Amino acid sequence: MSSTIKKLAYVHLNSKNPQETARFFEDLFDWETTEGENGQIYVAVDKYHHRITIYQNDEPGLRAAGWQVLNKRDFLKTQKVLDEAGVSYHVGTEAECEERKVREFISFIDPSGNTAEVCYAPYVTRPNCQSIGSLDILDLLHVTLSVTAAEFKANLQFYEEVLEFNVSDLFNKRIAFTRCSQNHHNLAMVTSEEPGRRFRHFMFEVRTFDDVMKTLMKAKKLNIPVEGPSKHGNCQTVHVYMPIPGMGKGLIEIGWNHKKILDDENWEVVCYDFEGEKLAEFIDVWKAPEVQKEKISSK
Ligand SMILES: [Fe+2]
Repeated sequence: MSSTIKKLAYVHLNSKNPQETARFFEDLFDWETTEGENGQIYVAVDKYHHRITIYQNDEPGLRAAGWQVLNKRDFLKTQKVLDEAGVSYHVGTEAECEERKVREFISFIDPSGNTAEVCYAPYVTRPNCQSIGSLDILDLLHVTLSVTAAEFKANLQFYEEVLEFNVSDLFNKRIAFTRCSQNHHNLAMVTSEEPGRRFRHFMFEVRTFDDVMKTLMKAKKLNIPVEGPSKHGNCQTVHVYMPIPGMGKGLIEIGWNHKKILDDENWEVVCYDFEGEKLAEFIDVWKAPEVQKEKISSK
């Protein structure tokens, strides 16, 4: 099984204060920001016109996740798949495509109420640029969203069975890590009823551990609250998180060493089932010495 969708192209953010949000990306990462025709702010990170667009909205959160197919054939196939599943979608007008700097896109609402867009042919405006600014950015890898317990099953079913994302692993009945590429996850859904935290974070993958540490040090220097470094148990990502000003509880993650799943056929999907210290270790393998002891004694 293989999804027509191959990567995460962009994220649209709703920010209470787009100028402040943009300044954060400029100051911390030296990314380039430009203002669009309708007041939106584009943030350029690499060869593409932008990877982040910031919109003003008093309710901060993820306005849309922008997924990408690689060609027109898969773009049409995606529409067919949605048609067959009875999912209605909007076909982007010429003006809307221009706003997103893509050749074509469709948008729809997923079962958890989040807006997803699927585009093809995003504009490349810096063909020779691997990444802008102080970090060596490899790619925009994933978004992590909260869903309610009532939404979780239908949402997972939609991404897994309709859009054909692969599940990499599950955690109890409340977290799913799904992918549309060889990356361990491109979309993680976490069951949570926490108010104001529908959008949890998005993540850029960086080339080296140095990039993670550079982020940590720069954040400290700028007095930006920073969480980490820590290392996830399943995807092995070494990362730091920073809150994004204007975005409520929303974070950005800068991560290195994200697990690649190269042999799809033989990847064993498991459902992790534990709590307490083992869960703490799952979230950060460096912060649960008791679990480490258990491992050693069971060898
Ligand atoms: Fe993450």
